[in-house]
Amino acid sequence: MTLRIDYTNMMGDVINGGVSAADWSSAPELFHRAFASAEKRRTAGELGFLALPGDEALHKQSLDFAARAKGKFDDVVILGIGGSALGPIALRTALLAPDWNALTDAERGSRPRLHVLDNVDPHRIDALLGRLKLERSLFVVISKSGGTAETMAQYLVVRERLAQQTKDVAAHLVFVTDPKNGALRAIAGREGISALDIPPAVGGRYSVLTPVGILPAALIGMDTAQLLAGAAAIAERCKGNELAKNPAGVFATLQFLADTKLGRHIHVLMPYSDPLRDVADWFVQLWAESLGKHRTKGDPGVGPTPLAALGATDQHSKVQLFMEGPPDKTVTFIAVDQGSIRLEIPKLHGDIKELGYLGGHQLGELLSIEQRATAGALARRGRINMTIHVDRADAWHLGALFMLLEIATIYAGEMYGINPLDQPGVELGKQFTYAMLGRADAEQARQEWNLLPKPDSRYAI
Ligand code: PA5
Repeated sequence: MTLRIDYTNMMGDVINGGVSAADWSSAPELFHRAFASAEKRRTAGELGFLALPGDEALHKQSLDFAARAKGKFDDVVILGIGGSALGPIALRTALLAPDWNALTDAERGSRPRLHVLDNVDPHRIDALLGRLKLERSLFVVISKSGGTAETMAQYLVVRERLAQQTKDVAAHLVFVTDPKNGALRAIAGREGISALDIPPAVGGRYSVLTPVGILPAALIGMDTAQLLAGAAAIAERCKGNELAKNPAGVFATLQFLADTKLGRHIHVLMPYSDPLRDVADWFVQLWAESLGKHRTKGDPGVGPTPLAALGATDQHSKVQLFMEGPPDKTVTFIAVDQGSIRLEIPKLHGDIKELGYLGGHQLGELLSIEQRATAGALARRGRINMTIHVDRADAWHLGALFMLLEIATIYAGEMYGINPLDQPGVELGKQFTYAMLGRADAEQARQEWNLLPKPDSRYAI
């Protein structure tokens, strides 16, 4: 079980355009300051996600509920958005067999199918609800605040269908929310609906190792103990302020220097692994919503732009841009030792040059060589990159990746001088939505909305 970061291709003494020797020599000091500020947050109780791997009582909430639910449901449907959906999606893609929901009951070992509704597009929701046998379905409503418009709208639609088609609505619902506050908690208390906790000190995008991710994982029979063990191992490695020994520190410091000193404002995460492809989307939200901020009022704003890519697929799409477009990117690969599944490419058409050389190699070997080739090609052109190596795309390594990137986000936030835990920028759009839908407490937003320029026919085509 290892997670190792190779950052050779980020360094200026190795490749053209990398982090300079001067910047790297002052990096430990930069990191010490970030680490000290992060420690202050930790001791103030703000970084609740760090304690999750050791929170046995919280883990047990999910295990107990999953044990009670065993055998009762064929379909588990998550209703949530943002940090309340991207973690479960990443878990599902990484740890369930490909096309899980299309497998038969026997192929799934009688474990349920898993659906994540992370939008309010009626197209998908209507289709899914029309297809499910609601008597055999469990809906996991996930919202830390317990009041997010999209999730509440989904819940209301689902609830009405449950009332029409099942005998006991509460038996088909479980909420994952704040232990005390919010509308979901109140409804749960009033109606005897099961509700699991998201600890108050764990924000949405840092919550995958709370019941947000652990409950769905337990319901489908994933190894939740290994997820938490992987996260614990990385948290342990990130306990000290010595940069060279702290993997999250190295990741955050290099990305920060690349952005602020080298103009590499776009941070790409590119797993060479189908199971880990949605970890990249999860990271995009974590990095974007945490770091894209004003430092002070009136400040134009800081923060890198994260981008998800997938190897080798995007070698035939985004990699052209990474190689020859503006030199404004870093690429972080995630490379998985592909040894576990051996699928040999047959030795056919040996006389045809485009096919013959492939025969006898493993498919996983091809994927791994393509990753190394892409990293090398980028480096050759002065396009800085690094590689996170993991042994396997399993629960332990997934937990380790989640924790690594969460801790790195906190360090990076401290380096940028912003609060990586809030998201004030999404508020105005929410208020305008409330105003247009007629929510009672949105009068001020309604007035502000009315002052906005109206669509101008001169500028429509
Ligand atoms: O990271 C965050 O805090 C957000 O992306 C939230 O997860 C998202 O807005 C959903 O919020 P909630 O869980 O309160 O419904």
